[in-house]
Amino acid sequence: MKIFSVYNIKGGVGKTTTSVNLAYLSAAAGAQTLIWDLDPQGGTSYYLCVKPKIKGGSEELLQSKTRTMAQLRMTGYPNLDLLPSDLSYRHLDAQLAKTAKPTQGLERLVAPLAKQYDHLFVDCPPGLSLVTENVFQMTDVLLVPMIPTPLSLRAYNRLVQFLVKRRTKKLRVLPFFNMVNLDKPIHRVVTRNISEKHPIFLKNSIPESTLMEAMGVKRSPVFTYARDSIEAESIRLLWQEIMERDKA
Ligand SMILES: Nc1ncnc2c1ncn2[C@@H]1O[C@H](COP(=O)(O)OP(=O)(O)OP(=O)(O)O)[C@@H](O)[C@H]1O
Ligand SMILES: [Mg+2]
Repeated sequence: MKIFSVYNIKGGVGKTTTSVNLAYLSAAAGAQTLIWDLDPQGGTSYYLCVKPKIKGGSEELLQSKTRTMAQLRMTGYPNLDLLPSDLSYRHLDAQLAKTAKPTQGLERLVAPLAKQYDHLFVDCPPGLSLVTENVFQMTDVLLVPMIPTPLSLRAYNRLVQFLVKRRTKKLRVLPFFNMVNLDKPIHRVVTRNISEKHPIFLKNSIPESTLMEAMGVKRSPVFTYARDSIEAESIRLLWQEIMERDKA
């Protein structure tokens, strides 16, 4: 099972939107796919119309690996399941801190899922916490959506510094731009020649668009209501590039 986590220290940059759309594409291509809503805000659960409720809350979830299995939900989309979150996830940090291996608790939880799924997408909460360190520990590919502004680049550099210090072994970091609007001079400046300056950045990006925003109203991936749009195509190209880079 390959683990893709969608993460940024910053909030509101498109982590949830991207997680849902990429997981949908992965599942539509036939891969057994699970999406884990790791954010107490429950955005992924909302987009996929699954009730955000964990029986016994995150405390019970952490206590036993079999609990994870019991919490899996079908989404109604072929090959796509969801591990929903609820508000109890706000205590995850404190609960992980009490365990014997505080940075490995989540990795232990997902291990039994490897037999069942080809891809796991983790929709992460913003911030840098013990939960995030758990994510870094278990992830194969860290996807970092960012809005093209100098502050976003700065936050990204901070993240890289942190990861270098932690020497997270297997983690591949793939940053990309979301909500790109080339009518804005600042977006033009930041995105210009980015792949020459920072070859690690994905070449494909997602445009700023009301069609993407509409996911919040439609409560479904963009492909279900605008499959032939430029926006849908931009995510297909992004996913293709992610898979190519992962193989390289
Ligand atoms: N490409 C886009 N164009 C326009 N709006 C977008 C785009 N991507 C996401 N949005 C909107 O931006 C807002 C934030 O998106 P999203 O919830 O995916 O971000 P997030 O990083 O998961 O936020 P949080 O840190 O709160 O979890 C939402 O209202 C969403 O509809
Ligand atoms: Mg989110």
